[in-house]
Amino acid sequence: MGLGMVLGSHLSPLARSHIEQADVVFAALSDGVVEIWLERMHSDVRSLQSYYGDGTDKPRITTYREWVDVMMSEVRAGKRVCAVFYGHPGVFAWSPHEVIRVAREEGYAAHMEPGISAEDCLYADLGIDPGRTGCQHYEATQLLFYKTPLNPQAYLVLWQVGLVGDLSMKRFATGPEYRQVLVDVLARDYPLDHEAIIYRGATLPVQQPRIRTTTLRELPKIDISSEETVVLPPASTLISNDEVVERLRKLDQALDVPATAG
Ligand SMILES: C[S@@+](CC[C@H](N)C(=O)[O-])C[C@H]1O[C@@H](n2cnc3c(N)ncnc32)[C@H](O)[C@@H]1O
Repeated sequence: MGLGMVLGSHLSPLARSHIEQADVVFAALSDGVVEIWLERMHSDVRSLQSYYGDGTDKPRITTYREWVDVMMSEVRAGKRVCAVFYGHPGVFAWSPHEVIRVAREEGYAAHMEPGISAEDCLYADLGIDPGRTGCQHYEATQLLFYKTPLNPQAYLVLWQVGLVGDLSMKRFATGPEYRQVLVDVLARDYPLDHEAIIYRGATLPVQQPRIRTTTLRELPKIDISSEETVVLPPASTLISNDEVVERLRKLDQALDVPATAG
């Protein structure tokens, strides 16, 4: 289940009913207050937070595999299991997809119930329609690992910039030197004075979103938390594809489709 981003207000009636009807509920949430709120909905809520260990020595992927194992052990014991993740469980999250894959492979029925993700909040708070120019999303470290072609005509949304470049998969934050590497990679497609928006959506009903704007050049100097997402607006305008438009016009003429106004 996805719990959405804002405590209390983003949970869908369907997700709530899945939680209430489960035998056991696992929880990977944004903070302890949200866990306490979830506990009011079910008497057996088990937090997955402790699996992170003390955060120094344990690769995150080990933690995520343990989450899958602990959830599957209850499924194999015949329980009706619900796992609740903040935001959308399938957006930039490994374990929810993996546990569903494993469950289905073993013959159990498994379903992912979407939630309102940071992406949805970002579109609303920043006034971005991803359909206007197109929109590309990348996990920031993945963008450094692979030679990824970027499209500067579209929005670029970068997730997990707060720990960009963490090869160890053990850290929860990286410093300005690592953000500089990200900037150097982005500078191949974007001018250094291009706008970068650092966005944190509200997670409590009393909060407002935090929207900071800077330039790509200044990005390394700005601390970015694990709850922030970076957005680069398009750096160049869309270029019309005259050849294809002409082909469509001819097709319309051949099929006698009335010409559009203008
Ligand atoms: C592991 S992903 C989880 C995303 C989550 N599943 C969702 O649906 O939004 C964590 C990343 O989500 C983004 N994120 C998490 N909380 C956020 C918030 N309150 N505002 C903006 N972005 C957030 C950040 O990019 C963060 O590094």
